[in-house]
Amino acid sequence: MFGELVDTSACLAATVEHLVALDPAPDVVLATGDLTDEGTRTEYSLLADLLAPIADRLLPLPGNHDDGPLFRSAFADRLPDSTADGHCSYVVDEHAVRLVGLDTSLPGHHDGRFDDAHEEWLDSTLAARPDRPTLVFTHFPPFTSGITFMDVSGLAGAERMRAVIATHPQVRLLVAGHLHRTVQTTVGSTLISVCPSTGNQLGLDLHPDRGSAVDEPPGYQLHRWDGERFVTHTGVVWEGRRLDLTQFVASIRARAAQGKSFPKR
Ligand SMILES: [Fe+2]
Repeated sequence: MFGELVDTSACLAATVEHLVALDPAPDVVLATGDLTDEGTRTEYSLLADLLAPIADRLLPLPGNHDDGPLFRSAFADRLPDSTADGHCSYVVDEHAVRLVGLDTSLPGHHDGRFDDAHEEWLDSTLAARPDRPTLVFTHFPPFTSGITFMDVSGLAGAERMRAVIATHPQVRLLVAGHLHRTVQTTVGSTLISVCPSTGNQLGLDLHPDRGSAVDEPPGYQLHRWDGERFVTHTGVVWEGRRLDLTQFVASIRARAAQGKSFPKR
């Protein structure tokens, strides 16, 4: 839909190149849906090529622009053997934080749904390990953003989803996509963070009658777990001017290592 504004494939390629260059490298890359535009076989073939450099750490979820069966086929080697009945939700429990992918996409629709089956699966999944710090990743953010045209075509049952999250405080972070902007809010003690798009962004305009897409740079979020909490950074894929601060960093670190303060002069 927004292909006339930005080349989404080129933007994704640049984002992947950026992610590969991160040092230290992320343990996993959460791809929170809308990984294609029309959900065609051709698009999934191109997507596989674009994501190949990070395929070994990718955890994908479908969004409203994906096709369920083709998505499962394209990512057969990245999805666990067991996913939820009727939706492509799953758990990865081999990292310092338990990762719960929640699929609320609705076949044939651009809106999503959190229904009885989702509620039962998410509640029982979270109840199984209340002792484990947990990150839930999903496509549709379960809150009203104020971007009206996205809200009215968003997630039915969002309040039910929020109620489940609120009863499981080990969910330290819930990340979502869909909004093509960086947006944060809270549910209980859980931070909800929506990452920017790897393609175009939506203009920041909360007037109910308006909406726009803008060619602000592609972006991503890096969620660093320090053993007690997540610290979330928003990265922008943009080749701006860069001033190398390596020498400055070395001097700061040396002074800190000696326990010295940092007077202005
Ligand atoms: Fe979406």
